[in-house]
Amino acid sequence: MELGMNQPSISFAPLQEPKQGVCLTFSEAKGGFSPVLKALDAQTKGLVTRAAGIAKFTGAKKTGFDLIAPGGLDIERLIVMGLGNVEKYSEVDWMALGGRIRARLAGARVVTADIFLEGNSPNAISGREAALLALGFLLRGYEFKKYKKKKKESDEDDSESSEIKSIHILSEQPEEAKAHFEALHAVGDGVMLARDLVNEPPNKLGPEEFAERARQLASYGLQVEVLDKARLEEIGMRALLAVGQGSERPSSVVVLKWNGARNPDAKPLALIGKGVVFDTGGISIKPAAGMEEMKGDMAGAAAVIGAMQALAERKAPANVIGFLGLTENMPSGTAQRPSDVVTSLSGQTIEVVNTDAEGRLVLADVMWFAQEQYQPVAMVTLATLTGAIIVALGKEHAGLFSNDDALAQNLTTAGLETGDKVWRLPLDAKYDKQINSKVADMKNIGGRDAGSITAAQFLQRFVKDGTPWAHLDIAGTAMASPQTDISQGWASGFGVMLLDRLVEKFYEDK
Ligand code: BES
Ligand code: MN
Ligand code: ZN
Repeated sequence: MELGMNQPSISFAPLQEPKQGVCLTFSEAKGGFSPVLKALDAQTKGLVTRAAGIAKFTGAKKTGFDLIAPGGLDIERLIVMGLGNVEKYSEVDWMALGGRIRARLAGARVVTADIFLEGNSPNAISGREAALLALGFLLRGYEFKKYKKKKKESDEDDSESSEIKSIHILSEQPEEAKAHFEALHAVGDGVMLARDLVNEPPNKLGPEEFAERARQLASYGLQVEVLDKARLEEIGMRALLAVGQGSERPSSVVVLKWNGARNPDAKPLALIGKGVVFDTGGISIKPAAGMEEMKGDMAGAAAVIGAMQALAERKAPANVIGFLGLTENMPSGTAQRPSDVVTSLSGQTIEVVNTDAEGRLVLADVMWFAQEQYQPVAMVTLATLTGAIIVALGKEHAGLFSNDDALAQNLTTAGLETGDKVWRLPLDAKYDKQINSKVADMKNIGGRDAGSITAAQFLQRFVKDGTPWAHLDIAGTAMASPQTDISQGWASGFGVMLLDRLVEKFYEDK
């Protein structure tokens, strides 16, 4: 499978003396130079101290300086980066540091480098932390360049594409680092798969192409089943089909099963993603400005497929089942109309007042199907569902809605640990009234007020009694995302690390 780019090789080894090539070293705000850097300083009779003084370097986070061809050493380039206060680093901080290292090396057009990851006291930096740094390094390097055919002509290209081929991370716990990196690398691959799919233009990635990408995951040991349009008609997923009926490209639902638990019959966790490959709004068409962003309206499905790949690649001891609701929302002579009434798989009828509120129609049928067929222990829906969630939470947190406090808490925890942060918003019967319809069991929009909440209320009508359910509105976090230390922007892969951590912490055999 094509990932965004050729990834450099990353190896772990014990600490040794820096001798040649590009050497990247660290300094803490309190502790000062790392031992290896102190040794270099001594060897050069204080050259590093002098340079640090001139650069007014204090070891603060996000600062640093370079010594090129430092006199008295065979090293080509000595890079010094400030760590700030390492004791306060979270897992997210270690990943972010790895991302900044990648940017730093790319900026200097470095091909290979040794990274001397050493704290000021023995074993201050664990193997896991070294592995997280490596993951951040990988994620920051992701770029989507597959449709750029022309070679860049000048240095004005401000992208970070670099020639970096390999890094060696030298640390005190290289074996632990290696072991942790194996699992984390799987998660990183999942994030990059999600980014690839979200970045892919919609003429290249329709429902069928998306399903084909899912089929390829059989190579990881996932069981992949594609329910095509004819099958969906037989089953009765009419709400989902109504969304796609204006498109030339047939809708489908993909089921991805990972049976990694000791008990293969244990009920699974269900992950359900909205996969609208392009959302024009349908007959309730969206304005032209910004409509191109709606190629990312399948980011929920991308997060689910990315997480499923990660779980399979790291052979997670858990039973998890992923569902992708794949369709395209187009206006045409066959498209659904505002005021159409559709009968969902659950039997509940829906008045489609606005064809642009299509994601909830897709999810409603897939949710019902998942519960009927698999009786999941819990169900998580992920969708770029409402613009209103961006108004409420911006791009820092995804919206979280849940009928289950424990599940909500677990997602919040997983979010804080991985950086895929979520913020809980209420569900309440009072909001539910906004989607009552005069002609059907419900309508698909609830007016201007609390748009993300009424969307979640709509989904809740398709949750069976007793199913713990959480919904993540990722419209602000998974697409059109800002650049961060570990992402160059637009497609963030939001949700993959979150779901992977949710499974690891709360659904795996112990
Ligand atoms: N896919 C959009 C939501 C969206 C908006 C995602 C902006 C990412 C960025 C969704 O299908 C939609 O169109 N929602 C409508 C709902 C409304 C008609 C009730 C919206 O948010 O405007
Ligand atoms: Mn829409
Ligand atoms: Zn949409």
